Amino acid sequence: MSRQAGTFLRRILNQQPETDRQSIVAKPKKNSLAATADKYLCYQESVQSPEHEVEFFDQAFKEEFGRKPKTLREDFCGTYSICCEWVKLGRSRTAIGVDLDPAPLEWGTANNFSKLNKQQQERITILEQDVRKRNRPRVDVLAAQNFSFWIFKTREEVIEYFCTARANMAEQSVLVMDMMGGGACYEEGKVDKRRIKKGKNGFRYFWEQESFNPVTSDCCFNISFKFNDGSKLKNAFTYRWRFWTIPEVREMLQEAGFSDSHVYFDKEDDDGEDTGEWVRMEEYPSHSSWIAYVVAVR
Ligand SMILES: C[S@@+](CC[C@H](N)C(=O)[O-])C[C@H]1O[C@@H](n2cnc3c(N)ncnc32)[C@H](O)[C@@H]1O
Repeated sequence: MSRQAGTFLRRILNQQPETDRQSIVAKPKKNSLAATADKYLCYQESVQSPEHEVEFFDQAFKEEFGRKPKTLREDFCGTYSICCEWVKLGRSRTAIGVDLDPAPLEWGTANNFSKLNKQQQERITILEQDVRKRNRPRVDVLAAQNFSFWIFKTREEVIEYFCTARANMAEQSVLVMDMMGGGACYEEGKVDKRRIKKGKNGFRYFWEQESFNPVTSDCCFNISFKFNDGSKLKNAFTYRWRFWTIPEVREMLQEAGFSDSHVYFDKEDDDGEDTGEWVRMEEYPSHSSWIAYVVAVR
């Protein structure tokens, strides 16, 4: 989730819950906009801001090592929009994208990679594989965005992933992950919606919190899209995750051998509005929903 989307999530989760759940359960009609919609494009336009992500990676790395990073590995890269943004930052920037699903990778090649110039394209390597594999070269920044490592539901699995991630990182390097939380995230049946585009090709984005089990912290979230002809792409994406917390993640990072970790929040002004300035914090107000970055130092 991008910083912009994160700010948005916090804003909408503070609103009243959507009560008309029927509004997104109708089946898509034949020849409707939903039937011909591109779910990856809708996803990218709804929840991703790669330009903000790479800016934050630069900030986090520079705050630790006093210089700019050059190499990125984007684990769980999907359509690898962050890799594509990274290589635009300069001729010394290279990126490795890793995902085991060929479908988003192929979409990324056709829609993101294809928009780069030849030199930029040559600086990207895509690996269709499990993220829990060691590769070379080791990188300055390893990013795992949009809560993707929450797919690992036990401490053993997460620590195994963190150990492999660390092995894929250079001597001076950071691992960057986003986290969400707050009481509103645990409310079953809560649906939040946002208009993404107006006009003929307009659509709305729905984030549904289908279930949360307080015994195991297992959760299920769905993303759906609704179009201007009333048709819907119901559950275009479903995530069955363990809802991890920041202290758990920091403890697991330590167990995996990381030397330090920092937590970044969007600093608020005196009126409680986000300023867009991400700063390290060891204390933060208990808002009903929030987005943060955890940055681990190798
Ligand atoms: C929530 S999406 C995130 C996509 C992208 N990183 C973003 O920020 O929007 C999770 C991605 O992780 C991939 N994935 C899940 N488990 C994986 C694994 N063990 N190894 C590699 N990729 C995995 C899925 O195929 C999917 O593309």
